[in-house]
Amino acid sequence: MSQLLHLDSSADLTGSTSRALTELFADTWHGVSPEHSVIYRDLHVNPLPHLPTNAAHWAERLRVPGEEVTPEVEVLQKQLIDEVLSADVLVVGAPMYNWGIPSTLKAWLDHICVLGTTMPIDGPTQPFRGKPVVVVSSRGNTYAPGTPGEGTDFVIPTLREVLGKALGMDVTVVLAELTLASRVASLAPLAPQGEAGLAAARATLVQLAKELGTR
Ligand SMILES: Cc1cc2nc3c(=O)[nH]c(=O)nc-3n(C[C@H](O)[C@H](O)[C@H](O)COP(=O)(O)O)c2cc1C
Repeated sequence: MSQLLHLDSSADLTGSTSRALTELFADTWHGVSPEHSVIYRDLHVNPLPHLPTNAAHWAERLRVPGEEVTPEVEVLQKQLIDEVLSADVLVVGAPMYNWGIPSTLKAWLDHICVLGTTMPIDGPTQPFRGKPVVVVSSRGNTYAPGTPGEGTDFVIPTLREVLGKALGMDVTVVLAELTLASRVASLAPLAPQGEAGLAAARATLVQLAKELGTR
């Protein structure tokens, strides 16, 4: 028996690529064993609040006088951190919004990144270390090497830095780009490339879900 934490953050509730792909992953993963369970968080439909105070970025023992966190915030942070702790695998839908991650996903990161609790500061604290996390990155344009967008993707580097480096998780990125090729005339010639990329993303996610589901 194994547990998956499934997060979506797309604001598109009808035609989202990342939602379709994280669902494919979750369904495949669940299909490996009927005993597998899934915790699902829709960060767009049920958004978390912004982090209400900088004090919440520090473990209690590391707060300076005057830095206080309300019990409600402590409870929410603990719940979100416990969801990650109890998960054997995470799948995270991460559309590109204005070159970065959606603010809803950022709010989740801000709640789970706590110095001295989930991130190292006064010792090697990294309770999520080694946990596999599959990031599904969707975006309308292309940011591939050699394109005008090269170097301006702030989704994948951010998630690698935070989930991988700071929190110590084992990050795999599955990319679906050019999702707007059928809608934006200038991208139309790249539509076949987008479709091939989507098919490859689907195949990779099915394979990953089977592998991670049988660990
Ligand atoms: C608010 C907003 C900002 C966007 N900014 C970008 C962008 O900077 N670069 C890009 O390639 N696509 C951008 N897009 C397009 C989305 O990345 C694209 O539609 C993608 O498929 C969204 O993911 P989803 O299909 O999982 O919802 C933006 C879309 C929205 C709604």
